[in-house]
Amino acid sequence: MSKPLNVALLGCGAVGTDVVRLLIEHADDLAARIGAPLELAGIAVRRPEKVRDVPVDKSLFTADGKGLVTKEGIDLVIEVIGGIEPARSLILAAFENGASVVTANKALLAEDGGTLFAAAEKHGVDLYFEAAVGGAIPLVRPLRESLAGDKVHKVLGIVNGTTNYILDKMDSYGASYTEALDEATALGYAEPDPTADVEGFDAAAKAAILASLAFHTRVLASDVHREGITDVTATDVASAKAMGCVVKLLAIAELSEDNRVGVRVHPAMIPRSHPLASVREAYNAVFVESAAAGQLMFYGQGAGGAPTASAVLGDLVTVARNRVQGIRGIGESTYAQLEVHPMGDTRTRYHVSLDVDDKAGVLAAVADVFAQHDVSIQTVRQEGRGEDAQLVIVTHEAADAALSATVDDLRELDIVRDVSSLMRVEGE
Ligand code: NDP
Ligand code: HSE
Repeated sequence: MSKPLNVALLGCGAVGTDVVRLLIEHADDLAARIGAPLELAGIAVRRPEKVRDVPVDKSLFTADGKGLVTKEGIDLVIEVIGGIEPARSLILAAFENGASVVTANKALLAEDGGTLFAAAEKHGVDLYFEAAVGGAIPLVRPLRESLAGDKVHKVLGIVNGTTNYILDKMDSYGASYTEALDEATALGYAEPDPTADVEGFDAAAKAAILASLAFHTRVLASDVHREGITDVTATDVASAKAMGCVVKLLAIAELSEDNRVGVRVHPAMIPRSHPLASVREAYNAVFVESAAAGQLMFYGQGAGGAPTASAVLGDLVTVARNRVQGIRGIGESTYAQLEVHPMGDTRTRYHVSLDVDDKAGVLAAVADVFAQHDVSIQTVRQEGRGEDAQLVIVTHEAADAALSATVDDLRELDIVRDVSSLMRVEGE
């Protein structure tokens, strides 16, 4: 056994609490796996006086995160505070103090990962972040290591547990959006500000991280086309059902034929027969397609304290082993620096439900608008409602810009009373 490694924990909320529990409960196994015992040197929180359900001495808690990470002899820092500041400054201070860092902070990595990776490299320490994407699911490591010899061309999946929980409850039980969001928050899935979940910011940050790893290109959250689920209505969910589909918030990162990167997060209808359709509650699932391996699927609990703590501890063991052996693990790989293309260039399909007058020539007028934008229609279904009718149109694949221009023009037609549901279709 080597000498003990000192661990500083930043944050003791939903994730941090389970990190502490696992550190204590699995202490002997962790020591055996690492070759050195781990000693918890301190826990930085906002409110050190708060009564917490963690099996450690109260004296370990402090509000002075900077003091903790710069303390002499700190070997490893776990950052589970979240957000940009003070997390970034504390991680940079930890590197300067010679400590390796494990973080679950996708928001920070997707905003300023470059600064963090450069600082880790400069100080010869590790930065690991398995928990930042997909909770418990081993996903970062397969992309960073197992697939390092392959060429990934697409990553597609459900990467936000909160929104999947909400959409699942709306679809399965007709739950209201607010009711389902409250449940997801109570279960510890939501971000401190759930806007990050429901507006797609959290999934966009994860998509940026996945795209960076998959395509060896630095992709930022601001490069990701982002739409959340706040505009998904009960009508959309019912329209999807009528088509044999389900609505999911998808994150998609793909290489285009001209070797540019497209990254997007938006709700989409997918067929109920698609494997992603059966991803329920706060589970996540991600498909990776690569040239030699073909299609791979990763599935598991995407949020929650214990699942996320499992991923954090896995990284902690790795960086601790590196420490004991006096080596560094892998750093950032952004050598390819591919261009990120705008959403308008993405090839997608649309489902459009139109409330129209039920009279002769309506279908022809609507079809003409699609033709003007060179968007080919795959299916049309018409349902009469007395004087009114509903047209449900699904398109073939076309440039997203052409599809959205088509819908803009449809809205201008006198015969179109309302575009009652509009959503991209994926997974066929
Ligand atoms: P919580 O809000 O539950 O916990 C945050 C913790 O950080 C709290 O202990 C809080 O202290 C502490 N904190 C907040 N501000 C400061 C500060 N200025 N200085 C020191 N400590 C501070 O968040 P989660 O545990 O849910 O999430 C933590 C990280 O893990 C985030 O990056 C999140 O995105 C990520 N993550 C979360 C998952 C989940 O399912 N919850 C899953 C995957 C990743 P106090 O307790 O005193 O308020
Ligand atoms: N709020 C996030 C989610 C936590 O719901 O997926 C896991 O990253």
